[in-house]
Amino acid sequence: MEIYTSSLFAPIVINGHTLKNRLSVAPMTRISATEDGRATETMTRYYERFARGGFGAVTTEGIYTDQAFSQGYVHQPGMTDEAQANAWKPVVSGIKAHGALAIAQIMHAGAISQGNRFRDTTVGPSPVQPKGEQMTFYHGKGAYAPPAAITEAQIVDAITGFAQSAGRAIKVAGFDAIEIHGANGYLLDQFLTDYANTRADSWGGATENRVRLIVETFKAVRANVGPRVPVGVRISQGKVNDYHHKWADAERDAEIIFGSLADAGADFIHVTEFEAWKPAFASEGPSLMQLAKRHAPKAAIFANGSLHNVEQALAALDDGADIITLARGALANPDLPRRWSNRSVLNDFDPTILGPIANIKEAELAM
Ligand SMILES: Cc1cc2nc3c(=O)[nH]c(=O)nc-3n(C[C@H](O)[C@H](O)[C@H](O)COP(=O)(O)O)c2cc1C
Repeated sequence: MEIYTSSLFAPIVINGHTLKNRLSVAPMTRISATEDGRATETMTRYYERFARGGFGAVTTEGIYTDQAFSQGYVHQPGMTDEAQANAWKPVVSGIKAHGALAIAQIMHAGAISQGNRFRDTTVGPSPVQPKGEQMTFYHGKGAYAPPAAITEAQIVDAITGFAQSAGRAIKVAGFDAIEIHGANGYLLDQFLTDYANTRADSWGGATENRVRLIVETFKAVRANVGPRVPVGVRISQGKVNDYHHKWADAERDAEIIFGSLADAGADFIHVTEFEAWKPAFASEGPSLMQLAKRHAPKAAIFANGSLHNVEQALAALDDGADIITLARGALANPDLPRRWSNRSVLNDFDPTILGPIANIKEAELAM
């Protein structure tokens, strides 16, 4: 059967910025920066090949935002000073040289930080030991330590870190857009998560309070980068340390979370689930991307999760997604858009390419 892929290759405008197609590389931590958090020449070549391969947008790995508690991994890149921001310039130029939108993902690891050269303790919304175990893959080992409850002053500092990093990403490094990492178990998602956030103040309790840090962070970022920069937020239920978590109030929570982001003026919302098309809460019902579209109809919806099959990707566009983001599929096929438009087959995913970029063969980086 002939598959018509043209809807994947229709341009879209997000807050005045055009993506030439509906395919974006999803954020992927690669722990390949220098120890002091600067992007490298290898990273430039790694990111550029996705743009050369035809992706309409390339989102970076999660970049840490301050020199206090935000760094999550050893060799993670940062955006906390001029030197780190300057180091991103060649990466951004490489992405833009091929007509792709360059999106910086900014993140604070909070209680699940497992490698921070500025601190040897962690903070989270409440002193609750995170579920799961540190990722050995990213040089971690054993259980996470219980975090200290972040103070009001430290919350203000964390928000400021996001805002200033976003400003550097746009004004110094030259990125086109900002994605705030509100997903996957990191600080902002810890606040959203009922069992991780047991605060009795205005940052805890009802979902409206637990989503407040995400919304306040969004507003601070928006204020610092101005109205014409696309700013979005990544949202998930599952976490790197708790894959199967579900929001307790299901569709009501989705309405509050996506509705608050819509009210704050998010240009895009990036939803991620293991399989993007599956019902979000039970065996039947809407998927998370459908709920995001329903409650934030003006935002562009980026959908992620096992969408490396062209039929699933096309179906997602019919289900409320505006952009399809690919992580493992893009790693295995940095030229996936070109392959889909030529109807050529994809490479299978080989888990050995998940390691640091140094593990990717030189010849492949030049592909
Ligand atoms: C090696 C690797 C690193 C990742 N790092 C990040 C990250 O820094 N930020 C983030 O939001 N998601 C991260 N993810 C999650 C992906 O963006 C994506 O949600 C997940 O891989 C599922 O999408 P896929 O089915 O297209 O692979 C990472 C995934 C992989 C495979």
